[in-house]
Amino acid sequence: MDLDNIKRHWETVYETKNSSQVSWTQEVPKTSLDFISSFGLGKQANIIDIGGGDSKLVDHLLDQGYERISVLDISAKALEKTKKRLGIRAEKVNWIVSDITEFEPDNNYEIWHDRATFHFLTTTE
Ligand SMILES: C[S@@+](CC[C@H](N)C(=O)[O-])C[C@H]1O[C@@H](n2cnc3c(N)ncnc32)[C@H](O)[C@@H]1O
Repeated sequence: MDLDNIKRHWETVYETKNSSQVSWTQEVPKTSLDFISSFGLGKQANIIDIGGGDSKLVDHLLDQGYERISVLDISAKALEKTKKRLGIRAEKVNWIVSDITEFEPDNNYEIWHDRATFHFLTTTE
């Protein structure tokens, strides 16, 4: 699949299905939260969730007081849904619509988190 098709695929997923209709939804992403806190980096750690989609990881990180959170996804619709859920709290988060293979960070991130995203990258490109 080329990049346009990959984006179209994921936009369609988020336009046509809600979180209870996809297999990867977690109410509490405990493994990820435990990993992140195990690093002991403090609440100022610069964290990016790659392919965050409409995951609730960002909700829980905000609840725990993390202050520098970015969420990146190829699907604008996915991030819109997450922002809508978070309401005013969405303003505390840096939202990035991008294919990860084209992303050029202008920041140093202490934590790159990925759950169920990088495994889609199966070709050299
Ligand atoms: C299976 S979902 C997992 C979502 C989220 N990480 C979670 O744990 O609930 C995969 C996510 O990766 C995103 N994605 C897939 N390929 C991507 C790419 N090349 N760049 C950025 N995001 C991508 C999709 O839009 C989707 O939100």
